[in-house]
Amino acid sequence: MSVQTSDIADAIAGDFAARLLGWYDRAARVLPWRIAPNSDAVPDPYRIWLAEVMLQQTTVAAVAGYFTRFTERWPTVADLAAADDADVMAAWAGLGYYARARNLLACARAVVADHGGYFPGSEAELRALPGIGDYTAASVAAIAFGRPAVVIDANIERVIARHRLIETPLPLAKREIRAALAPLVPQDRPGDFAQALMDLGATICTPRGPACAICPVMADCRARGRPDIDRLPVKPPKKAKPHRHGAAHWIEADGRIWLVRRPGKGMLGGMRALPGGDWTDVAGSGLERGESGIASVDHAFTHFDLTLILVRRKVPLAAGEGEWWPISDLDAAGLPTLYRKLISKMMLERDA
Ligand code: ADE
Repeated sequence: MSVQTSDIADAIAGDFAARLLGWYDRAARVLPWRIAPNSDAVPDPYRIWLAEVMLQQTTVAAVAGYFTRFTERWPTVADLAAADDADVMAAWAGLGYYARARNLLACARAVVADHGGYFPGSEAELRALPGIGDYTAASVAAIAFGRPAVVIDANIERVIARHRLIETPLPLAKREIRAALAPLVPQDRPGDFAQALMDLGATICTPRGPACAICPVMADCRARGRPDIDRLPVKPPKKAKPHRHGAAHWIEADGRIWLVRRPGKGMLGGMRALPGGDWTDVAGSGLERGESGIASVDHAFTHFDLTLILVRRKVPLAAGEGEWWPISDLDAAGLPTLYRKLISKMMLERDA
């Protein structure tokens, strides 16, 4: 009897998943949205979806508190769908990438309006919902619904690029990574498999100095022990980031300051903010001649760096949506991190 190559591939694949899942059964991180391996609990798609949206571009440590506050305040997708936009935006403040919060609400409302309050289980239907891209569709399908989807985030990308020694630079490498990963996904535990790879990437196959000696899939890892393993996956050359400048206005009267809401589209869209002018390429933009401001902050966005200078002004720039907010209760305003940093620097300097 001849041995087919596909049989060999199946055997290796089965073995990879078995080793990884065996490790996960012992070492899975305890996370607020996670159903422990081999637990009888049934995953709640709402909680899985919420966590996956929060975890895009944001670390597990940063998300945990937000996830708990959100699910206590809005325990079901119907509760979230019925929430006020302003409350959700304020609760999201600090997580960044605010388009995600707007899409979160749109998605919750679509699940209620178009799916009777139940998330659909297939990748294709999930992807059709607002704000759900390939990654979220695959992760929710696998983790919440047990579908054998191919889930790829940055951790998984790193694990597979190393294990298979894929030296093609990203983003081109993505196709090879997917092709290598797809046959490894086990039919019976695809959600645990995806989360096991994430945990492996976060705790053992770390970006720098991976702990190969204790890796459950080290035996057939092609990059194991290579002195240049940190290089994998090979990143694309870094683009120079533009630097922008802007002014934010501190307009104070009777213990209150004037806050505005940023337009729905664009940077920090829909968030409460300090008023101010446009952000431009010109240093000192928005300042009067010779003015240096009362505080300044440097903030890195994904596609540009910003220097924002806080200046005192007496009246709001233009009529528009705004409100006088008590300075003693600024924490409750739900300001994005950029403005929180700027205001706390100003307060520190004022108290010094
Ligand atoms: N990062 C993104 N999704 C995750 C999950 N479900 N568990 C751990 N880390 C993650």
